[in-house]
Amino acid sequence: MIKKYIQENEGRMLEELFSLIRIPSVSAQQAHKPDMLRCAERWKELLLMAGADKAEVMPSDGNPMVYGEKMVDPKAKTVLIYGHYDVMPAEPFELWNSKPFEPEVRDEHIWARGADDDKGQSFIQAKAFEYVAKNNLLKHNIKFILEGEEEVGSPSLGAFIEKHKELLKCDVILVSDTSMIAEDIPTLTTGLRGIAYWQIEVTGPNRDVHSGHFGGAIANPINVLCKLIADVTDADGKIGFPGFYDKVEEAGSDERKMLASIPLDIDAYKKAIEVDELFGEKGYSTIERTGFRPSFDVCGIWGGYTGDGAKTVIPSKAYAKLSCRLVPHQDYKEVAQLVIDYFKRVAPKSVKVDIKFLHGGQGYVCPIDMPAYKAAEHGIEMVFGKRPLAARLGGSIPIISTFEQILGVKTVLMGFGLESNAIHSPNENMPLSMFRKGIEAVINFHLEYDKMGN
Ligand code: BES
Ligand code: MN
Ligand code: MN
Repeated sequence: MIKKYIQENEGRMLEELFSLIRIPSVSAQQAHKPDMLRCAERWKELLLMAGADKAEVMPSDGNPMVYGEKMVDPKAKTVLIYGHYDVMPAEPFELWNSKPFEPEVRDEHIWARGADDDKGQSFIQAKAFEYVAKNNLLKHNIKFILEGEEEVGSPSLGAFIEKHKELLKCDVILVSDTSMIAEDIPTLTTGLRGIAYWQIEVTGPNRDVHSGHFGGAIANPINVLCKLIADVTDADGKIGFPGFYDKVEEAGSDERKMLASIPLDIDAYKKAIEVDELFGEKGYSTIERTGFRPSFDVCGIWGGYTGDGAKTVIPSKAYAKLSCRLVPHQDYKEVAQLVIDYFKRVAPKSVKVDIKFLHGGQGYVCPIDMPAYKAAEHGIEMVFGKRPLAARLGGSIPIISTFEQILGVKTVLMGFGLESNAIHSPNENMPLSMFRKGIEAVINFHLEYDKMGN
């Protein structure tokens, strides 16, 4: 029945998804401001078409929110589905095999920016909702909230949730915005890392100067920045900010055993990104390094002469974008400050160092004994043929912990992405098989959740 519905409606469903993808809702780029509202409006139409009794585009301090609901019984349980309609910039365009905002199906995959993150995945939720709503199968209420600023750190959603607590009232939150280990290793996400992000600016001389006149006599801000950054991690991959690990909780031995049993294919992992050897904190497995341990990375670095040929110059300035992925219990505000204090303290007097905190968010851990988690587990098992593993992933969705703080509810992370979907990268894609299985698994979630009565 369910499979037949998905099969018969697939053409229409894909056209609807493509209508969302064709709107380049890139939240990081000012030029796309008008596309944010267009995308929100389109989502509103799609929620109404899918069976919502009410849907609206609501203002926030930033990009508009989309809210929709189908209330079957005010006394029944309510599932709030969260997703984001904004996408990451698609640059560099020349590395795409087809245009990022002109979706295409090739080789049984959807290719486009947002095919997975998060238009494809949140659309899976919308189509599962369509099935249960149109067939009158629902015993619980469903609400949708879609934001347009997730990829820039959700700066407006916290205040919006606070203001609309009643509207967003629910018993559990359901999110499709994470991934599985592999299509044949179905996974439910039980943890997300927190994040903190900075920009650092190092200033040397008051102008770019001749590197012969001054070379050897003054500090070069790029050299200094590189050394500052390189000194943060030691040869064992340990991060040297004093106090950084204070609140990091070690995984227990049972949990480590469970993690060791996750069949991550290390050769395939390396091959997919063409690296010959992995590197990370000594004493931890790859799964532990991304799920249970924090990390420090330079996301961008620039300065000086980068044009054609050679120019002999000592630049006045050097810049870098720095980020840490954090684990539960590490507080991003504390880390934000200790990193700033560290760089200010170790910076040599020969340069000026200015470091600004850009954004951050807390991590999240999902309990595996609550009814909605069990419903998701069953729902996935029924479609993928195996009970899903519980895995903490390395990515972040900071708003999940904000929901918990303000609304006091937990989130089930029922993600249908795959590493090979290349989110945030050129040639983002989504296998049609995951799209179909995702819809079916979420339909099963709703049916199972009702059986459990929470
Ligand atoms: N959907 C991702 C997060 C994700 C992907 C988690 C795969 C787990 C597995 C989300 O859209 C994202 O990219 N988040 C940002 C957050 C940041 C901008 C605050 C991230 O993780 O970089
Ligand atoms: Mn996402
Ligand atoms: Mn993302």
